[in-house]
This record gives sequence, structure tokens and C-alpha cells, in this order.
Amino acid sequence: MPVLARQFVRKMRGGAQAHLLEAEDGRWYVVKFRNNPQGARILVNEMIASHLLRYLGIATPETAILSITQEFLERNSEVYLQLGSTRRAVEPGWHFGSCYPGDPARLAVYDFLPDTLVAQVANRSHFLGVLAADKWMGNVDARQSVYFRAQLGEWAAGAESPTPKVAFLAQMIDHGYAFGGPEWGFQDGPLHGLALRPVVYQEVRGWRDFEPWLERVATLPAELLDEARRRIPESWLDGDGDELDRLLEKLWQRRRQVADRIAECRQARPSWFPNWT
Ligand SMILES: Nc1ncnc2c1ncn2[C@@H]1O[C@H](COP(=O)(O)OP(=O)(O)OP(=O)(O)O)[C@@H](O)[C@H]1O
Ligand SMILES: [Mg+2]
Repeated sequence: MPVLARQFVRKMRGGAQAHLLEAEDGRWYVVKFRNNPQGARILVNEMIASHLLRYLGIATPETAILSITQEFLERNSEVYLQLGSTRRAVEPGWHFGSCYPGDPARLAVYDFLPDTLVAQVANRSHFLGVLAADKWMGNVDARQSVYFRAQLGEWAAGAESPTPKVAFLAQMIDHGYAFGGPEWGFQDGPLHGLALRPVVYQEVRGWRDFEPWLERVATLPAELLDEARRRIPESWLDGDGDELDRLLEKLWQRRRQVADRIAECRQARPSWFPNWT
């Protein structure tokens, strides 16, 4: 069920002109609007890719459909899209929300960390998983993520008075250009889907590091794609339903080709995998 948007917080950077909104469920969402400049298909891509990543065990924000009413828009006049010198009103209706990992007034979320900190991110192996997933899903963008400090729920070994272990975690965000972006197709450029910084791949020593992820993609159940498809509201499709079905059929056919795509990537950028021998 959609969650009602309650309050505008701030505008986010980026081509889709996402806005951070507080919602009636007491959480905050980075919201991409149905009539954003990149088109409605990027909402479909976000929703489907998020569902698949979660199944694969790759950290990515929870998602929701955000319902925006006319009354909300009248109360929050900062919510609009800017196209060159003209303003485009956000349409009332259903939009895509990517959950902010806490209270934005208290939790700092970073787009970038220095390499020395990235190397200590607790779930950094997820960058290998998401490379496999992005190759499968034909993400034509660079892999984007956010970082924040979180309590891992573990206790520091041997400490006198145990303190919860705090570490940086990464969450994979921005899947708008999975499935070729608004084009819907699979272009398979060797560098597509690579993260912006090579440090996330420095621990790769061989295929063994990718195998668990390749295995999960290759053996995923067909119902998973149906489930992902059912998460898409009709209002985002606007006659695109049949094409989406064809896209998902192609996606299913590609599930065993991921290793080939990663091999092409390594060949195109060997220096990004310096320890892969
Ligand atoms: N779930 C989230 N939690 C916290 N911050 C987020 C989340 N999703 C997105 N952001 C922030 O919002 C910014 C814009 O999001 P995103 O990259 O998805 O939009 P975009 O318009 O596709 O951006 P670009 O065109 O720059 O790639 C990100 O750079 C990130 O800082
Ligand atoms: Mg982005």
C-alpha cells in the first residue's frame, strides 16, 4: 500500500530531481516523481532492481510507493521540478520512494568516503554482488551507493565493558539506469555498472569472490520476476506493460551470462582488479 507524504525536507541533487520527504509512516524517503525529467520508466527500474537486489542479499534501501496529494503540494510549495527556466508541477499520485536510513536530522549519509574508509566498510563485499547484479540487469550507469555509520549489533571482542561495534555500511542506490534506463534494453558496455572508485574491487582475487553472487543470480526462481512486476503501479506504465514483460523475459534469459560480462569488464579495466591473478 502507498505511504502518504507528510512534509518536504529538502531537494536532492541529480538528474531525476529527487526530493527528500517525510512520510506518514514516520520514515523519510528520497522520492523520484512519476513526471521527473528522466521519465516514468526510471521509477519502474528502481522498483524492480531494488526487489531483485534484496533477494540477492545486497544492501539497498527499502522502497515504497509514496502517495502525494494535491493538498500536500499546496502545503509544500518547494516541491516542483525545474526544466531549464520553466517549472513543472509534480503530479499528484503515486511516486517512487527510497528509504533514508534514519532520521536525516541526526544521521549523516555520504555519497563518497575517502578510500581508507571505503576499505573498512563492513559490507564491502556487496560491491562484488552488485557488480554481478548490475551486469545481469544491464545497468548502463556507474554503480552508486551511500554510506553511513551504523551499529552492527555485534560486541567488540574482549572489551571490558562491551561496546556495540560501529562501522560504516554501504547501501546501493540509484537503479534508474538498470535495464538500459529509459531505453529498456541491454547494451552490455564493458564498463557499465562499475563503481566510481576502484578501491571497492581491490580485494578481488579470483572468480571465487564472485561465485556466491553468480550462483544466486543463476538459480533465482522465475516467480521472483513476477513478484517484482506486480510491485509496479499501473500509473507508472502508461501503455508500457507489454514492453516491460518482454524486458523481464530477456532478463530471465540472461541470468547465466553474468560471468562473461564480468570477464569483459575485467579485460577492459584490469587495473581496477589489481589482485585478481
Ligand atoms: N535511500 C537513500 N538514502 C539516502 N540518500 C539517498 C537515498 N537515495 C538517494 N539518496 C541521495 O540522493 C541523491 C540523488 O539520488 P539518485 O542518485 O538516485 O538520483 P539521480 O537523480 O539519479 O542522480 P544522478 O543523476 O546524479 O545520478 C544521491 O546522490 C544520494 O545522495
Ligand atoms: Mg544518481
